[in-house]
Amino acid sequence: MSGCAAEMLKIDDRPRGPYPPRYQCQRGRTSQSRKASETRMTQSTQPTVWVFGAGYVGITAAAVFAAKGARVHCLEANPRRRERILAGQSPIEEPGLQPLVAEAVADGRLTVAAEVDESAPDCDLAFYAIGTPEGADGRPEVGALTDAIIGTLPRLAKASAIIVKSTVPIGYAAEVRAKIRAQGSSIAVLSNPEFLAQGTAVRDFEQPDRVVLGAKSEVDAQPLVDLYKATLGDDTPVLVVSNEAAEMIKYAANAMLAARLAFVNELASLAAAYSIDPAEVLSAVGADNRIGPKYLKPGPGFGGSCLPKDVMALSLIAKGVDVRLPVLQSILPSNNDRSSTVVDTIWRSVGKTSKREIALLGLTFKAGTDDLRCSPAVDVANELVARGFVVRAYDPLVPSHPPEVDKRVSVVSSIETAVAEADAVVVATEWSEFADQDWSRLALSMHRRLLIDTRNCIPQEKASAAGFIQVAIGDRGAADAAGKALRAMDKATSPALDPNSIPATS
Ligand SMILES: NC(=O)c1ccc[n+]([C@@H]2O[C@H](COP(=O)([O-])OP(=O)(O)OC[C@H]3O[C@@H](n4cnc5c(N)ncnc54)[C@H](O)[C@@H]3O)[C@@H](O)[C@H]2O)c1
Repeated sequence: MSGCAAEMLKIDDRPRGPYPPRYQCQRGRTSQSRKASETRMTQSTQPTVWVFGAGYVGITAAAVFAAKGARVHCLEANPRRRERILAGQSPIEEPGLQPLVAEAVADGRLTVAAEVDESAPDCDLAFYAIGTPEGADGRPEVGALTDAIIGTLPRLAKASAIIVKSTVPIGYAAEVRAKIRAQGSSIAVLSNPEFLAQGTAVRDFEQPDRVVLGAKSEVDAQPLVDLYKATLGDDTPVLVVSNEAAEMIKYAANAMLAARLAFVNELASLAAAYSIDPAEVLSAVGADNRIGPKYLKPGPGFGGSCLPKDVMALSLIAKGVDVRLPVLQSILPSNNDRSSTVVDTIWRSVGKTSKREIALLGLTFKAGTDDLRCSPAVDVANELVARGFVVRAYDPLVPSHPPEVDKRVSVVSSIETAVAEADAVVVATEWSEFADQDWSRLALSMHRRLLIDTRNCIPQEKASAAGFIQVAIGDRGAADAAGKALRAMDKATSPALDPNSIPATS
């Protein structure tokens, strides 16, 4: 590792009362400053990096570091993920990741093993990106992470730092540091929370808005600052703060995003009740510079492996120190309400018709990923079959029936199979291929033409030209009217429906 960045850290030494001093990297804004695209590590800055956990965060970090010239050794417990990496394949779906993994494995810059053994190269920096899922009590489970850190300590004699990339409770790094010191090791423990979003993980990792490093001192932080400067160039701000602040920044950022999404969905439900297009309201709201246009798109509720668990974790952290955060505590109930509103809208529109066959488009929690963790689309699919609907689900990255999805849901391999004979299309994930379809052609094979687009991603003109009745999430008037129209069509063509066959709405 080079020590070239010693002058990049400056202590912000304004009086700060009881708080520890902050350090901040200066941005290189000269014409010579290196951009990420131009950056590649030189011989002197090529560290050997270990990455524990080759999941969404770990493999992305590993592949980008390797692409910039680092020697990266992944430690991955899941044999399927290991096999894929060994074969030069990305263990997860993420745009742009596959070629990076293939090239780095072929060059020998990216290797993988189940555990640290004699074949492992000596390590300069050890990253830990092991999952910290929500435990039964709502708190993140950090046991596997801690075991991995402590278990590998004897092999880290030549390394300069342990880097916690996983999202962990405030105070975690300090606890781990104390355990490590008790074992006689003086290795630095750094907190380096990750802010990438699935679906854009590689781009986000290569061009982050900022890098946050939590450290006990600027000396401890320096090797990691060097690695990021060598990987990303000089333009990316690297903010060096205390470990505790870094840990809190991650939760605070995700809670802000979740709060914004929950509120946007509440506004969309209100707009729908007045038959106002929420996009008209939200784009005008977002035109205010103080608010900005990002994260203003309504949807079926947020999901994924991070936002729900991180909001829950932060609520419990606040509770643990007896601090009331009523806004934070209302985020998850609001998000749950949105899911109920989606199902209620579908129920009112199609629930009392004769066939109740739904083509559900999308199962992943967002487009661009194969991840089904806490996916609102999966919740909708499961709730619909529980209420007696026939559901055919199609997702471009879900080729077979996943365990998260109720067995009564048919997972089909084409959009045509999903929509054939369906009464309604429900769009649950914003895959661009859904918007690109020839909807006039697809509509010909449907029994009834109802569209409930929870992502507002099918162009209005296409849907109208194909003859769809469209119902917005939360527009009870439109949903009831659609239900009435469909039942009238049923009466004209089918025998009367047995009311006893209809499960009650909750
Ligand atoms: N997914 C995201 O978008 C995202 C973004 C920012 C932060 N995070 C945080 O990063 C962490 C990792 O998230 P993820 O989504 O990459 O999780 P993941 O489940 O996709 O990956 C974790 C990997 O760790 C492996 N693993 C578990 N125990 C291990 C051990 N002892 N040794 C080696 N490997 C082990 C698992 O097999 C798995 O492949 C979490 O704390 C998460 O909250 C995730």
